[in-house]
Amino acid sequence: MSSLAAFNEIIRQNEPLAPFTWMKVGGSAQSFASPRNEEELTQLVRHCHAEEIPMRVLGGGSNLLVNDDGVDGVVIHLTPDNFGAVEVTGTTVRAGAAAPLSRLIAVAVRAKLAGLETLAGIPGAVGGALHGNAGTRSGDIGQFVSSVSVLTEEGEKFTRKEDELSFAYRTSSINELVILTAEFELQPDDPVEITRRMRKLWIMKKATQPLSFQSAGCIFKNPRGMSAGALIEQSGLKRTRIGGAEISERHANFIVTDDAATANDVLQLIEKARTAVAEQFGVDLELEIEIW
Ligand code: EPU
Repeated sequence: MSSLAAFNEIIRQNEPLAPFTWMKVGGSAQSFASPRNEEELTQLVRHCHAEEIPMRVLGGGSNLLVNDDGVDGVVIHLTPDNFGAVEVTGTTVRAGAAAPLSRLIAVAVRAKLAGLETLAGIPGAVGGALHGNAGTRSGDIGQFVSSVSVLTEEGEKFTRKEDELSFAYRTSSINELVILTAEFELQPDDPVEITRRMRKLWIMKKATQPLSFQSAGCIFKNPRGMSAGALIEQSGLKRTRIGGAEISERHANFIVTDDAATANDVLQLIEKARTAVAEQFGVDLELEIEIW
């Protein structure tokens, strides 16, 4: 891909993507770019657009499965150092897309601002969390967003305010190539109370989810009014193993991987769970994770 020569300071070829994902499986990116600032990012996007080079943006990698064959084109990696600043002004918190969600929550709590603590324990970065409207049963990230600035595939930047954004269960209207920054409007509250709520949620999460294992969180979305985990468990698939991947004993909507796992092992388990739940319950499970 010689047409990317102008960007050689920020591009590596054939970069393995597994280390950038929580599942730790999958192949390489043909080109892997880590722009140092917004200007460089914009130039790269415009160039790739003009040259028709496919682009993908890598977030925190916690809801992503990369195929064993890897991906063509450019994977753009926004690093927390360059795109992850978090700052507070009054009751508004502004975060770069690459800020870990945990950092955003910590800064908000320290500023005595409540709301985002319901997201405690969700891995990944702000951009991906917004794109997929990450959340729990107690709330999701979308409900606190007041504006989001994005970069389109053509390299145009613009800001979308609250009334131009919509969020629903694990989905959002933000479909531009890159999320750059977001602003959250929060409520002042007693930090002791905020921390107490956060601790309670964290304990519940730890009790029900295999958090100490390699995984991408829940694999499927919950079908309306049902639990994907319960359906997979009732299909008798807990602890089903293919290669180095296993349907978690603790929570059947999680697939955990070990060092020997391949993306294909995970894909086969996904297919197995989908088929079993469709046959036994007539329910089509929809993926929550993204597959490249
Ligand atoms: N259940 C089973 N077997 C299982 C797993 C769950 O019977 O293997 C049952 C539980 O006993 C419970 C019900 O299913 O009665 C719901 O389970 P849980 O409370 O664990 O919540 P969930 O619906 O499976 C959702 C989110 C999680 C989020 C939790 C807590 C989805 C797909 N999952 O899980 O989000 O952490 O609620 O708020 O919406 C994620 O999206 O990656 C994720 C982990």
